[in-house]
Amino acid sequence: MQTGIDIVKIDRLSKYQNDEKFLNKYFSKAEIEYIKSKQNVLQTLAGLYACKEAVLKAFGIGIGAGLDLKDILINHNKNGMPFVEIDAKFQYYLNCINCKEISVSISHDGEYVIANCVIM
Ligand SMILES: CC(C)(COP(=O)(O)OP(=O)(O)OC[C@H]1O[C@@H](n2cnc3c(N)ncnc32)[C@H](O)[C@@H]1OP(=O)(O)O)[C@@H](O)C(=O)NCCC(=O)NCCS
Repeated sequence: MQTGIDIVKIDRLSKYQNDEKFLNKYFSKAEIEYIKSKQNVLQTLAGLYACKEAVLKAFGIGIGAGLDLKDILINHNKNGMPFVEIDAKFQYYLNCINCKEISVSISHDGEYVIANCVIM
């Protein structure tokens, strides 16, 4: 089992909220749609960003080591619970650490958002 955690000061991303270049660099079309559908766009944007970084940390690798933030696709089930979509590239990285399951969680409070990831 491996875990990763990330905290983001929500305001730090305010300059990117409407920056399509930034959004397209790190988020999929579906993620951008999800972010823009939320009442507090900035909070959700920061949450998904923190979640992707928590996933990278759980793998023990940093940005640019093969798995990029855009390769980590965060979706939500019908209750709103976030989960990581497993495509072929992502599955390869899971296999590399001999793991089968991944779980993420996100929480916001005030100025900060925190996300964690567990890989088993
Ligand atoms: C999950 C829940 C407790 C979060 O409450 P909160 O303390 O106000 O909010 P937090 O800031 O800690 O967490 C919000 C994040 O939790 C995550 N989340 C939302 N629903 C979730 C759920 N059912 N399970 C796990 N995580 C959930 C999302 O990532 C959300 O961020 P986002 O809105 O930016 O996408 C609350 O949204 C809830 O009870 N949802 C359940 C809804 C549900 O199950 N409905 C189905 C019918 S009963």
